[in-house]
Amino acid sequence: GQVVPFFGQHQAGIVTPVQDRLHFAAFDLSPAATRADLVALLTAWTNAASHLTAGNDVGTGAVTGPPDSPPDDTGEALGLQAARLTLTVGFGTSLFTDATGKDRFGLAGSRPPQLAELPAFPGDALDPAASGGDLCVQACADDPQVAVHAIRNLARLARGTASVRYSQLGFGRTSSTSTSQATARNMMGFKDGTNNITADDPAEMNAHVWVQPGDGPDWMTGGSYLVSRRIRMLIEPWDSTPLTEQERVIGRFKGTGAPLGLRAEFDPLDLTAKGPDGEPLIDAKAHVRLAHSSHNNGAVLLRRGYSFTDGTDELGRLEAGLFFLAYQRDPRTQFVTIQRSLAGKVNDALNEYIQHVGSGLFACPPGVQPGQHWGQSAFA
Ligand code: HEM
Repeated sequence: GQVVPFFGQHQAGIVTPVQDRLHFAAFDLSPAATRADLVALLTAWTNAASHLTAGNDVGTGAVTGPPDSPPDDTGEALGLQAARLTLTVGFGTSLFTDATGKDRFGLAGSRPPQLAELPAFPGDALDPAASGGDLCVQACADDPQVAVHAIRNLARLARGTASVRYSQLGFGRTSSTSTSQATARNMMGFKDGTNNITADDPAEMNAHVWVQPGDGPDWMTGGSYLVSRRIRMLIEPWDSTPLTEQERVIGRFKGTGAPLGLRAEFDPLDLTAKGPDGEPLIDAKAHVRLAHSSHNNGAVLLRRGYSFTDGTDELGRLEAGLFFLAYQRDPRTQFVTIQRSLAGKVNDALNEYIQHVGSGLFACPPGVQPGQHWGQSAFA
């Protein structure tokens, strides 16, 4: 189907089979905004999102409203399908306690312990202007114009209350969240998402993605935590690297996606396997070794990222990379644990070719029921 249901136990856009395109936006509330303004914004967004995700216009529409007023809907999605649009909202750390320690919206007491600021990791080169945000909206769709239209109209509805801090377009999903999807390739040319956890296993989703009763404040039960990282790829050095070295860095074959030494993409990774020379088949610094659950206290992530290419930089280099998105039940034991090993003493071989330039951490509340607004449980 073209339409992904908006209402439900969980927000759509997390375990939904990954769509082809992304428009992700982080918003900041204006300095004058009050708790009532925030609730009004979430109410207006929820109403608009329920229409947009069904393939309909916002409000009185693009061409069907009063002709002497600016139309409620900006119009560029007229005639387009819903294209499996999902809109997923998250609450940033600054919504609970701002940079000066102020509790602007009376939410500090509801802040989940899981929403602890991410530590600084060695090698981070974070741009504050491309990091954080009071709120985020992840728009995913199979049609880029549908995703952009949704973010544009939500930003328009927010005028006076919140404005876009940064946004990121993504093309080319870099992971699958369902075994029915073929594994796509990232901008390094490798299949990405082979060893992702998938929504086909609900027990795994409850264990690793959905917040369970008793994990923290009740309002987050059924929600999930999102870590976003804008990861720039140093494309030119990568493209000058021999194929066998590229494969050593990742730990998999570029063609098939199979683990080094094995034949098929989904052959299980064996990190103890040794070659005829007695050397480990998968290098000690290979990305898949350091990222693997056995190396990280069993930690796994639901990866849902997208490739991006934002033209070229001032030196003529491709401004490309991975907009990494990962959902989890507790970032402290999942993303942070894995990223600590990737950026740790046994430095991931991939780090020579990438740089983390943006970062976000968001509490994505549970799903919305008809008559409610996004994140309503946080305001009870
Ligand atoms: C696996 C690429 C960043 C976590 C992989 C694979 C590739 C890849 C090609 C193997 C295929 C697969 O199983 O999906 C990249 C690139 C990155 C990047 C190009 C940066 C630009 C990250 C980050 C994390 C991460 C920041 C988390 C902190 C994982 C995990 C696996 C994986 C958990 C699966 C390992 C396994 O169990 O086999 N990545 N990755 N990756 N990556 Fe990354």
